[in-house]
Amino acid sequence: MKILVVFYSRSGKTKKVAGKISDLLKCEIEEIIDLKNRKGIPGFLSAGSDANLRRLTTIKEIKNNPSLYDLVIIGTPIWSSNISTPIRTYLSLHKEDFKNVAFFCTQLGSDAKKIFDDMKNLSQKTPLALLVLTSREVARDQYMQKVKEFINNLKKEIMK
Ligand SMILES: Cc1cc2nc3c(=O)[nH]c(=O)nc-3n(C[C@H](O)[C@H](O)[C@H](O)COP(=O)(O)O)c2cc1C
Repeated sequence: MKILVVFYSRSGKTKKVAGKISDLLKCEIEEIIDLKNRKGIPGFLSAGSDANLRRLTTIKEIKNNPSLYDLVIIGTPIWSSNISTPIRTYLSLHKEDFKNVAFFCTQLGSDAKKIFDDMKNLSQKTPLALLVLTSREVARDQYMQKVKEFINNLKKEIMK
């Protein structure tokens, strides 16, 4: 089975989790690059308002065509109780291209259900598995158990 992990990360937490998932699954990984500057306080503010208003952004051309994969695992940080703008953009651009999806997010403490529902609607696919981690768990390296459970859940779904 061909698997791709796709993620966006502004400050490294989602990137760390994405790297671990792709290591464990020995699969390819693609980082979504936002061409809008999200650095510093102006970047933080634009990220918050763009996500809140469900705007799209311009992302760098991707390297891996998602339609060539059996499963695409998509990770996003939560911004203003929403999907991050770069991942909203990726999902909007490629909604026709997914065979199977799974989602993960990192966040401070928001309810992830709404984000996952939104990702499901945008990708037009019901996710095979979901994973929510707090930035604190990721920073303290206390996330491996949940990542392993996520991968086990995925494997069970794939076997069905
Ligand atoms: C603009 C912005 C808005 C955020 N809004 C929320 C939020 O509504 N709820 C929440 O739990 N965390 C929120 N966060 C925190 C991030 O989701 C969290 O720190 C995440 O782990 C960052 O991932 P990253 O390091 O991959 O960018 C926000 C962060 C940013 C930058």
